[in-house]
Parts: sequence; structure tokens; C-alpha cells
Amino acid sequence: MEIVIANEAHFKYAPIICDTIAESAKVRGTGIAKRTPEYIHKKLENGNAVIALDGDKFAGFCYIEVWGNKGFVANSGLIVHPDYRGQGLAKKIKQRIFDLSREKFPNAKIFGITTGLAVMKINYELGYKPVTFSELTDDPEFWKGCQTCKNFDILTRTEQRMCLCTGMLHDPDAKAKEETSRKEKINGKAFKRLKSIKESLFLKKRK
Ligand SMILES: CC(C)(COP(=O)(O)OP(=O)(O)OC[C@H]1O[C@@H](n2cnc3c(N)ncnc32)[C@H](O)[C@@H]1OP(=O)(O)O)[C@@H](O)C(=O)NCCC(=O)NCCS
Repeated sequence: MEIVIANEAHFKYAPIICDTIAESAKVRGTGIAKRTPEYIHKKLENGNAVIALDGDKFAGFCYIEVWGNKGFVANSGLIVHPDYRGQGLAKKIKQRIFDLSREKFPNAKIFGITTGLAVMKINYELGYKPVTFSELTDDPEFWKGCQTCKNFDILTRTEQRMCLCTGMLHDPDAKAKEETSRKEKINGKAFKRLKSIKESLFLKKRK
């Protein structure tokens, strides 16, 4: 398995990347921002993506998005092909895209929003901390990405202050804390509980 910074030579993988993201969104029943092959091409051209390949078979992908005049970057679109899940591949891809983000945008805060426990665990081990949405970018283009999520009404109702996703942030200025958190393992139960509290708060109001 090789995990490399993607480029134009990987254009042929754009359709399978988009299809795998779309299929996984259906299975999860939650919103994963939909992406087109053209959008993926831009990421490859700019050297802002990482691809995992098993020989010439697609195994996984993740890309960098830049927000708020380079003050924030997000490592988005993480996807591992179902044939390669549960083997630590997402962790390796996220580490690679995290390192690339730090090299290319050393002063940017790195953030993400997710409902997925796997991603929360990985982010936490990379030194991200859970934060309220007010700590994240206020770039409207980022939040527009939530429009394809089925929970978008919640984000609208709360005036973008909270939703089912948890915001997580890596602040390059907090280096000492980062070193400590790298050694810690996330308390998965606490995140699951937070998620279920949010679901009971927000989702029952729909009935
Ligand atoms: C989420 C996803 C990327 C995980 O890929 P993966 O290669 O199987 O993950 P890893 O093997 O690297 O696992 C990393 C950690 O998450 C945990 N994990 C993996 N899948 C999990 C799941 N479905 N639920 C809870 N924890 C999970 C692993 O046990 C591991 O934790 P550990 O370090 O405590 O052992 C993959 O399932 C996927 O592509 N899903 C669909 C797309 C998606 O949800 N993307 C994230 C959008 S925010």
C-alpha cells in the first residue's frame, strides 16, 4: 500500500473517489458533502490531496480545503474504500494529509466537523480539540458545504452555532498541549454520549 501526494496522474481515480463517497453517504444516512470529479481534479492539480493505492487499485483519499484567507484549513473528504477498512488506513491517510497541511499552511488552524467516531478518534490523536462552531472559520463558503447534509435545517435553526457534528480544531499555537494530547487516547464513550445528547435535543423536535 502506498500513500502519496496526488497529482494529475491520478485523474483517472476521480470517478471512483466520488462514487465511493456517495455510496458511503447513503449507507451512513448522514450528510457527507457531495463532490464532483471536476472538484477532485482541482485538488489533484494543486497538490492538495493524498491518495492511497494498493497497486493500481484505489484504497483511500483525503484533501485539503483552505478557508478564511488561509487562516483555516480543513482536511476533508476522508474516504477509505470498503475493501480496506478496519486496517488503520484512515489513520495513516489523515496523518499524511495533516503533515502536508502543516508544511503548506504552517500558520493555519486545522479543523473539521464530523459525526463519525472514527474521525473524532483520529483527530484527537493528532492533537485536535473539540470546540464550539464559533471557534471555526466563519467563511460562508465552508458552511455552504453543509447544505447537502440532511441535518442542514438544524444548523439553520441554531443560526450556525451548533449541529449534530462536533467541531474539532488543531491550533498550531498550542504546541505544548498538542504534544500531551498525541499521547492520549480519546474517550469514545464520551463522544458517543455527546452525539446521543445532541440527537435527542435536535432530532425529536422534528416529530
Ligand atoms: C470512517 C473511515 C474513513 C474509517 O476508515 P478505516 O480505515 O476503517 O479507519 P481506521 O482503521 O484507520 O480506524 C481508525 C480508528 O477509528 C476506529 N473506527 C474505524 N471505523 C469505525 C467505526 N465505524 N465506528 C467507530 N470507530 C471506528 C478504529 O477502531 C480506530 O480506532 P483505534 O485507534 O481506537 O483502534 C471509513 O469507514 C470510511 O471511509 N467511511 C465512510 C466515509 C466517512 O464516514 N468519512 C468521514 C467523513 S467525516
